[in-house]
Amino acid sequence: LVHYLAVPPALFSVVAEGLAGAGLNHEARLVVEKPFGHDLDSARRLNDELLKYFDEDHLRRVDHFLGKEPVEDLMVFRFANMLLEPLWNRNYVRSVQITMAEDFDVADRGGFYDANGTVRDVVQNHLLQLLAILAMDPPPSMDARAQLDEKWRVLRAVQAVDPAHVVRGQYDGYLDTPGVRPGSTTETFVAMRLYIDSWRWAGVPWCIRSGKALPTTDLEIVAELRKPPVTMFRGGDVPPGPNLIRFRLQPDAGVTFDVLAKEPGRQRTIPVPVSVDFTKVLGPMEAAYERILTDAVSGDPRRFARFDLVEESWRIVGRLLDLPDQPLPYQKGTWGPEPAERIPPGGWHEISTTFD
Ligand code: BG6
Repeated sequence: LVHYLAVPPALFSVVAEGLAGAGLNHEARLVVEKPFGHDLDSARRLNDELLKYFDEDHLRRVDHFLGKEPVEDLMVFRFANMLLEPLWNRNYVRSVQITMAEDFDVADRGGFYDANGTVRDVVQNHLLQLLAILAMDPPPSMDARAQLDEKWRVLRAVQAVDPAHVVRGQYDGYLDTPGVRPGSTTETFVAMRLYIDSWRWAGVPWCIRSGKALPTTDLEIVAELRKPPVTMFRGGDVPPGPNLIRFRLQPDAGVTFDVLAKEPGRQRTIPVPVSVDFTKVLGPMEAAYERILTDAVSGDPRRFARFDLVEESWRIVGRLLDLPDQPLPYQKGTWGPEPAERIPPGGWHEISTTFD
């Protein structure tokens, strides 16, 4: 028996208690939608409440990004191939940029969104889960516990975000949305730089940006590699750019390596993409919720947020929650407030938008 709760979070423990009162917690699993808590303390309180009625093995916290095939493929791409892993560390990677852009605004979700904002809505959960998958060490095996333990280990090493490395934005017109409080300081955009204190990643900036009413709807990760130690070839009028590795997750999925090739007839380089479009090559994929709900029934915990990971992610973003200052304004259809450009050293790489 599986109880799946997509209800206002304040009701999670009320419903759990009611189910238990009717004896419906026996041999049953409770599956709760995000957000799990509003901050670290409230997440711990909620967890304690739910554990009174359903033990950890019968409690599942949904993060639907973990059900997305392209997200899971990041792990396969990393650990099933020898291509990337030798480079995937501070010696070769200069920075990693994660962009989750949405070209639509808050629309009719004003009430929900205003109580949350971008950090709570997608960074604390979806994007830190992505970061964990990208940055973790290889697990000793592919069993669920081994994977979750490695993800926890890397999140544990992420420094709590420094507000000096954050730009928050709010699109013009947000305050007129039904359900939004007058003068609300909730952000609809955030860009931040994180550091991971591990041997693999020390000193490498991991930059995350996400927002509503941006120019496109895309989810892409761009890793910038360091340049060769000696520049032997010119790149036109400008120095040759770095190699980029792009993991594209949405709306289409695939990988692109931006490499340098010889420009025919000249002794200089031009960037060329080497690309694979997974949707074309591998065919259609199951939707995230098909996988999540199947796992909820079978009991496989790997595509859910284990509580210690939830705790770490609240710790990481804790200093950004409920900030009293007004976020910087931005026009709809732009990449957020201008200072966000300076969050990654050297600025954001343009994202690829499509394979065609
Ligand atoms: C949800 C957020 O969790 O994820 C939304 O509440 C966001 O604001 C959505 O739009 C994005 O998910 P997907 O699967 O449509 O990319």
